[in-house]
Amino acid sequence: MKRIIVSLILISLLAPCASADEGMWLPSLIAKRIDDMGSKGCRLTAEDIYSINQASLKDAVVLFGGGCTGELVSDRGLLLTNHHCGYSYIQRHSSTGHDYLRDGFWASSPAEELPNPGLSVRFLDRMEEVTAQVLHGFSEGMSESQRDSVVAVNSKSIIRSIDNPAKGIKASIEALYYANQYYLFVYRIYRDVRLVGAPPSSIGKFGGDTDNWMWPRHTGDFSVFRIYADKDGNPADYSPDNVPYKPRKHFRISTRGLREGDFTFVYGCPGSTREYAHSEEVRYIAEVSDPQKIALRTIRLGIQKKYMSQSQEVRIQYSSKNASTANAWKKWQGESKGIARLRTVEAKQDFERRFEAWAKGTQYEGLTSRIKTIYERREPSYLAYEYFYETIRSIEILHFASNIQNCLKGGRPIGPVVASFFKDYYRPIDEECFAALVDAFDKNMPEVFKPAYFKQKMAAFGSAAAWRDDVFSRSIFTDRDKVSALTKADLKALESDPACELYNAFQSWYEKDLRPVIVSTDHELRSAMREYMKAQMLFEPDKAFYPDANLTLRVAYGQVKGYSPCDAVYYNPVSTLKGIIEKDNPDIFDYNIPQKLRDIYAEGGHESQPVCFLATNHTSGGNSGSPVLNADGELVGINFDRVWEGTMSDIVFDPDYCRNISIDIRYLLFIIERVGGAGWLLDEMDFAPNGSYQRSSLRATPLLRACRFVQG
Ligand code: ARG
Ligand code: GLU
Repeated sequence: MKRIIVSLILISLLAPCASADEGMWLPSLIAKRIDDMGSKGCRLTAEDIYSINQASLKDAVVLFGGGCTGELVSDRGLLLTNHHCGYSYIQRHSSTGHDYLRDGFWASSPAEELPNPGLSVRFLDRMEEVTAQVLHGFSEGMSESQRDSVVAVNSKSIIRSIDNPAKGIKASIEALYYANQYYLFVYRIYRDVRLVGAPPSSIGKFGGDTDNWMWPRHTGDFSVFRIYADKDGNPADYSPDNVPYKPRKHFRISTRGLREGDFTFVYGCPGSTREYAHSEEVRYIAEVSDPQKIALRTIRLGIQKKYMSQSQEVRIQYSSKNASTANAWKKWQGESKGIARLRTVEAKQDFERRFEAWAKGTQYEGLTSRIKTIYERREPSYLAYEYFYETIRSIEILHFASNIQNCLKGGRPIGPVVASFFKDYYRPIDEECFAALVDAFDKNMPEVFKPAYFKQKMAAFGSAAAWRDDVFSRSIFTDRDKVSALTKADLKALESDPACELYNAFQSWYEKDLRPVIVSTDHELRSAMREYMKAQMLFEPDKAFYPDANLTLRVAYGQVKGYSPCDAVYYNPVSTLKGIIEKDNPDIFDYNIPQKLRDIYAEGGHESQPVCFLATNHTSGGNSGSPVLNADGELVGINFDRVWEGTMSDIVFDPDYCRNISIDIRYLLFIIERVGGAGWLLDEMDFAPNGSYQRSSLRATPLLRACRFVQG
């Protein structure tokens, strides 16, 4: 016992961490964390997780498309990710004749798998620190732009020496710790990735935006793809001659099940976090930006909802727009509430006071107040910019007018833009949004931050609604035929179209009045924050700092764990099929499950079929689709969300509230096999022994079960 205590103390001294389970660690440095992981139950070595000498778990993880993660589960290139990550591809293969979003899609053999032009996945071959090479030739005293050009020149030459398009090899140099360090990442990019299967949205998006960011959760948020390569295993453009890619590594699946307290880790590509931000930045996000943006989106969502509930057609047209508007809207609410609850601004201010006491007499003295003044200078312009983005740019017709002008200027065809705009456009929604958002801009922007054009028009029309009526009655952008007929020669005349005129006036106001301040303060902040990051590491030499997320591969680890969202409530960490049936309601779109699932449930014996689970892994946007692994590195789930009360973890991690949400791998198998009828996919997968999942073909009939019961 004593030995255990001593070694626990030693471990905590060797690997101190900001707080339990916080952190998104670089795989190549995982050796520094492996003892801590081991103390929490992990049975792997650092080499199992990341190695450049042998196949390791990293070889089974990919960045999927532009912003999700995926994992390999067979030696024939079979890949799992989220339904919401595959959504746009599933949609592109859908039409009224075969609506794969509504009904799901399951290839019954590789020949039926569907190619997805433009979709690629990238594997990480290796990563290494290259700070010295990237900064070669830089000396203290150089200006920020001199530093930028040193970095650019050196990076370019490193990248050029590695890139090999024929083999799909692409290098990239990423700045970490606010550009105190640079890392080289060498990727292999595969670009023939085919859709294999997806559940119907009533499973893959079950709970919709009502349950989004929430627990208890019952979403089967997964889809299945396959990577193809040329005969030698190299990346290739789509070709019917390509063959399934044989990865260096794929995950073994464990269906042994999870219990509260079990070790788990997530291997994936979190997109963006700001854990070392200054209190001013956090204050701006939580107290200014989030509330303002939430209020503007509440207006928009209310208008959308009103019309969506009146018509099935409008509901379909606006489902995707509504989902993406609501996704960030809901996250920001959790984030600003979480920051307020944790008093993060005050905690950061307190940290800054202690930092300044330490920095006295050093080159870092006064750094935090310098950063504060830069943020203060930047804030009004930045807020105006964000307001522009959430109001004028969110009025569909104005944004459309700007897109068409850009296409014409760039000589690009406008046909596809026109078609996709009108397919999902419902004018009454946009008209109402126009009046409400322009009104909000007028009421909430200080006079000095209103474009002169805006003031003129508001004075002339007297109200946002009257201005709206003028724009919508005169602009040609409401008329599909007229827009379709536009050519480059019309650009000059378009300048006086009321939609173009309005948008362009705002755009040039942004370029002239806002952008210069934003760019120059960004520039100042880059170098000040770089110093501040470096100084924070000196100030707390014993703390283990992980770099902010930037879509590069990371490992986060923790344990299966419930939480208490509020007084008197404790959430269990596992949800089951019983909960789906409890929520099932044919009259509520988000909760209307497929009849097939009802029928399967009615057979009996499925009440405790696990569906989703919670854990304390530190994840962020981009971790969608990430493999969730057990102590042996076996796949037990797929990450797809966080709980609402913990979404401030992009800025501050709270072990009491921060939970990632994953689909239990057994639910995925159940849906593939029982609802999708695609059991052939399970034949390709490798399962760890002693699993609890029973293949349906092997499933005991009620009679057999009764026999066993009698025998047992
Ligand atoms: N909140 C999750 C993520 O950010 C899932 C989003 C998709 N699901 C939805 N119901 N909109 O991005
Ligand atoms: N759904 C998110 C994504 O698309 C992951 C949830 C999160 O932000 O943690 O990446």
